[in-house]
Amino acid sequence: MWNKDFLLGVATAAYQIEGAATADGRLPSIWDTFSATPGKVLHGDTGDVACDHYHRWEQDVDLIASLHVDAYRLSISWPRVMDAEGNPNRKGLAFYKRLLKALRERGLKTFVTLYHWDLPQHLEDAGGWVNRDTALRFADYADLVSRELAGLVDAWATLNEPWCSAYLGYANGHHAPGKQDIVFATQAMHHLLLGHGLAVRKLRANDPGAQVGIVANVGRGTTNGGSAADRRAAELFEIQHNNWVLDPLLKKQYPAALWELWPGAQPMALDGDMDIIGAPLDYLGINYYFRTNVVSDGAHGFTEVPLAGVERTQMGWEVYPQGLYDLLTGFKRNYPQLPPIYITENGTASDDKVVDGAVEDPQRIAFLSRHWTAVDSAVKEGVDIRGYFIWSLMDNFEWAFGYERRFGIVHVDYATQARTPKRSAQLVKRFLADRARRE
Ligand code: BGC
Ligand code: BGC
Repeated sequence: MWNKDFLLGVATAAYQIEGAATADGRLPSIWDTFSATPGKVLHGDTGDVACDHYHRWEQDVDLIASLHVDAYRLSISWPRVMDAEGNPNRKGLAFYKRLLKALRERGLKTFVTLYHWDLPQHLEDAGGWVNRDTALRFADYADLVSRELAGLVDAWATLNEPWCSAYLGYANGHHAPGKQDIVFATQAMHHLLLGHGLAVRKLRANDPGAQVGIVANVGRGTTNGGSAADRRAAELFEIQHNNWVLDPLLKKQYPAALWELWPGAQPMALDGDMDIIGAPLDYLGINYYFRTNVVSDGAHGFTEVPLAGVERTQMGWEVYPQGLYDLLTGFKRNYPQLPPIYITENGTASDDKVVDGAVEDPQRIAFLSRHWTAVDSAVKEGVDIRGYFIWSLMDNFEWAFGYERRFGIVHVDYATQARTPKRSAQLVKRFLADRARRE
């Protein structure tokens, strides 16, 4: 697996690193509104400044290149590049053009996500993803960006983790826009996926040389309960997290079991929607972090029961590389239409500190190497996996957890914006230098 055809990259997202929230005509997004709302984000943190990447992008491109990685995954901020009337914001577009050109000049492959959760606030004011019109607006945005950036992108992703946008955004409210209604969430999911399908058409028409895909977060659900109902609960967990997104994309239908979990919450759809949603993909991006132990809730669903005595990250997430192997091999069995896969995110948070100019992060090194072994095992089982991206290049705004949780292989001191490669970054660099020597 570790030859130069298998891409090793690092990933980030616009709102988490860019800052410059009002620069050059950028409009507010739902995350500006959400993070400014007291009680929504730990310590009241916002993405106003973040890693100030908007101003420090040249230095950051040097940093990425210095790691010897093959590829960089980033996202475009919709409210930076389009105004409320749908006209291009030239300054915002110029930023991404400069950035992508600089990455290409360094020989880096560019993986560009159109939507990593920063919906323009004016669209949320009109109903957000619950409103079908947002799917059409997303296609307009995809059209504009792919016309402007054609030729600079190796692989487009329409959406990052629609499960998070729909469920965390509209059902449990942990993420922006913070709504709490399962009927909103299933409708939002439908419109996210519809927007994806419409965007795929634009991307293919405007940038025929690039790969087109989507990124889904997947979770492993298991049970330590002994009953048939507990085993069903674990299945339902995965249906809710994984199949809710993957079945429409790869089988053109929602899993029927969803409506056992959420009776009466079927989204309104029009004839033809599922064909648009199920358009062929060049690749599927998979983000994996952890496993969840569940038991039956005594009705039609599942309840999480955290396992004791397992290794956990700073997020409280269980370290469980086996789950990544199980999911990848399971997808290969269950989806005849499964396209080639990139692991577009995997990584861990830890409370890293700079001591004498160095950052020791042994738990991240162990996490990454164990997950690489899991990916390697899945490749050996015949799963077509083309690359792996570490989340994240550098510490950044970790959504509802603000700056406290550090996912980077590069440490960021937010007071000075100093970047310090952690020990894990040094190992990645050495590993890739060795690989280059072997080839
Ligand atoms: C996971 C979700 C989790 C969310 C929280 C995602 O990557 O897949 O299960 O709830 O992150 O940020
Ligand atoms: C998201 C990232 C996030 C990471 C860790 C994924 O849910 O795509 O933006 O920082 O997981 O929670």
